[in-house]
Amino acid sequence: MAGSDLGAYNIEDLRLKAKNRLPRGIFEYVDRGAEDEIALRHNTAVYRSLKIKNRVLMDVSERTTATEIFGQKITMPFGISPTASAGLVCEGGEVGLARAAARMGVPCTAATSSLTPMEDIYEAGNGNIWFQLYMWTDMDLTARFVERVKATGFETMLVTVDGPVSSNREYNYRNGFAMPLRYSPRLIAQVLANPGWCLRVLAPQYLKRGPFRKVNNPPELASKLTQVDVETAYTKPSAQNWDHIKRIRDMWPGNLLVKGLHSWEDAVIAADNGLQGVVLSNHGGRYLDSAPAPLELVPEVRAAVGDRIKIIIDSGPRRGSDIVKALAVGADMVMSGRPTLYGSAVAGEAGSYRALEIFQTEMDRVMAQIGINNVEELGPQIFWNPPDWVPKANASN
Ligand SMILES: Cc1cc2nc3c(=O)[nH]c(=O)nc-3n(C[C@H](O)[C@H](O)[C@H](O)COP(=O)(O)O)c2cc1C
Repeated sequence: MAGSDLGAYNIEDLRLKAKNRLPRGIFEYVDRGAEDEIALRHNTAVYRSLKIKNRVLMDVSERTTATEIFGQKITMPFGISPTASAGLVCEGGEVGLARAAARMGVPCTAATSSLTPMEDIYEAGNGNIWFQLYMWTDMDLTARFVERVKATGFETMLVTVDGPVSSNREYNYRNGFAMPLRYSPRLIAQVLANPGWCLRVLAPQYLKRGPFRKVNNPPELASKLTQVDVETAYTKPSAQNWDHIKRIRDMWPGNLLVKGLHSWEDAVIAADNGLQGVVLSNHGGRYLDSAPAPLELVPEVRAAVGDRIKIIIDSGPRRGSDIVKALAVGADMVMSGRPTLYGSAVAGEAGSYRALEIFQTEMDRVMAQIGINNVEELGPQIFWNPPDWVPKANASN
């Protein structure tokens, strides 16, 4: 692989390299979206549709992308979204993601469904680490799990709430990649067609850890990716409601956010229940296919909750300019899962770091071009001819 830039000059380069290094079923599991992929495409298209104007002769020699979230200094307003099964793209992938984030100085979110123990991911994150919770309807089980998350040292937890039922991902069925995983002839053929992945990921996994497992699952639940998904039957996520969040609030002293919201009404409920923030997300186009892009939702959610809670968005950013645009419409921070996963598939920790480095250098360059010295200066004044949903610029910005 070429020097520290890995021959990848943007996120799309990492994506194409990842495509070459992964069995088709695994690449598409990461890359694709639900049903007709309307939301998947729209997420990125909305970012691209916004035009920003340069400002000249502004002395931007002292500019910085650095900011803070929940009292923690971060190198840029960007974090890694939780991604289940990151260990499928790179052996021990979750640890590499956490190390890359720690090196860049941004948060990485460990997923409930990761294939590495949460304790190992926490240690690798060196303080730059959040936790993502999938609740079980059996609240005793959930409570014990939350105690473990707390005891591990996590201080910020996102509860993902956009999956009351499982999603419709037709490409997974076609690839023979539905959960529980079955070693179908199609899947075996895809794996054998990619001996590099077998050597880099499959063999070390089996030698060091045995079969791929959701190792964090409580013992009452199935954990092997090949097991019948008793988890779904057992947990009845479709019965979940705000009372469950209130119970988590009572037992979690740290920062608590819900992830997967679209509606400002839900954000108001989150604020009224003492949560610290929301993550507006359509799960990267992996659930509700006709969902709006989170970027478009920021202004109405901000208007509804003001500064009571943090508004974080994910789904679709692929350029540093996208982070700039998200903050300019009112978001506090941006997250994304796929870019660092592509990087992980390409070169483990170094590849994930490369993805973060691309975002940071692009963001810094664009800030200079538009005459911005720090993220507090970002506002709707940066846009040229914005659509109606973008807040109007006023004299102060
Ligand atoms: C392979 C993969 C696995 C994911 N697993 C989870 C998960 O376990 N929990 C969760 O809250 N979100 C999960 N997500 C959604 C991400 O957290 C995030 O919302 C999404 O990646 C945003 O889209 P983007 O990466 O295109 O920006 C997953 C996404 C991908 C691509």
